[in-house]
Amino acid sequence: MSIDYPFRTALKADKRIFWCSCGLSSKQPYCDGSHKGAPLKPLAHTEQIDITVALCGCKKTQRPPYCDGSHVDDRRVLGETAEKA
Ligand code: FES
Repeated sequence: MSIDYPFRTALKADKRIFWCSCGLSSKQPYCDGSHKGAPLKPLAHTEQIDITVALCGCKKTQRPPYCDGSHVDDRRVLGETAEKA
């Protein structure tokens, strides 16, 4: 299930993650294999340095796997606040 806010995540240099792009994983923001049969596949991602990032939970980002603020625009459309971001 996709979530309408980003996940603040500490990533280690050279450690590969698989970011869920389909929104079906129960281990957000990571892939749990639930995409099987879906058209979207997980995104393999590796950072060059130890860093804390915001990984997209809403799956509408234009800069995967990072949050680009698209979830805030969704809330505005729905008339909600952006207090979780
Ligand atoms: S959580 Fe998807 S753009 Fe922010």
